[in-house]
Amino acid sequence: MLKCKTMAASMTREQMQQNINDLGPWFYEFDFGDGLKTNSAIPATVTQIFSTRLQMVNEIVDSHFGGRLTEISCIDVGCHEGFYSIAMGKKGVARITGVDVREDSLRRARFAAAAMGFPQIVFRHGNCEQLRAEDVGQHELTLFLGLLYHLENPMLCLRNVSSITQELCICETQVIDEVEGTTEWGSREWTRPYQGALALIDESGEFYNDNRETGSTPLATCPSPKALVTMLRHAGFRKVDIVTPPPGAYEQHARGKRVVCAAYKK
Ligand SMILES: C[S@@+](CC[C@H](N)C(=O)[O-])C[C@H]1O[C@@H](n2cnc3c(N)ncnc32)[C@H](O)[C@@H]1O
Repeated sequence: MLKCKTMAASMTREQMQQNINDLGPWFYEFDFGDGLKTNSAIPATVTQIFSTRLQMVNEIVDSHFGGRLTEISCIDVGCHEGFYSIAMGKKGVARITGVDVREDSLRRARFAAAAMGFPQIVFRHGNCEQLRAEDVGQHELTLFLGLLYHLENPMLCLRNVSSITQELCICETQVIDEVEGTTEWGSREWTRPYQGALALIDESGEFYNDNRETGSTPLATCPSPKALVTMLRHAGFRKVDIVTPPPGAYEQHARGKRVVCAAYKK
């Protein structure tokens, strides 16, 4: 049975299936009920990344907001097809905005949210390099998942993310192995310790091949864990925790190659 009365009322099951087919290929698996679902285009060995991330996001959100979920608003930056925006809708978050730089993915997000009975989730086009509170508002909760390591200006984007976050930002990212050391700083006698490091990654291959998960430019930067915490602190977050993954987590989270950070404004 479809949950979305308006969409169910206006479309037959066959029309729904046609829309699902026409909008594909899909990145996430959405179950619309009545045997209607999308199949994820990514390998089955990797799809656990979604459930681990969701489990970790849910636990952080529940622990911070408790019974306040119906009073808060959430922004999901780099929302893709709206998987995590819809997940927050399922939890009862009052107002949700999904932002992504790819209109093509937003079309799927709008369809999925309407079909699952969340027409109140707003999806809008935007680039996190230009996010402004005047445009998108401020939100108690910001999701910033799987995006930081696709950006060429990570600090600018984290400052923007911080400026629209009132309480908690959950940032999930690939990380490079930690880089420890010191550098000379103006004289052979003067040195400074590294506060982590950023690796430059060339995503030209994927970017020019219309991959929908890359950043808006082909050059990406990937932080080490210490760099991630340092950047979040400098972006204005008071407290930053790298969260321990749960037992049975996706292998990259379990090995610390991807991390989930809870960054608190207050
Ligand atoms: C790897 S996907 C992650 C999607 C989702 N947040 C998740 O965790 O599953 C990165 C997403 O960020 C979007 N994106 C890339 N660069 C962006 C930018 N500069 N501003 C906003 N969205 C961007 C991409 O279009 C894509 O949907």
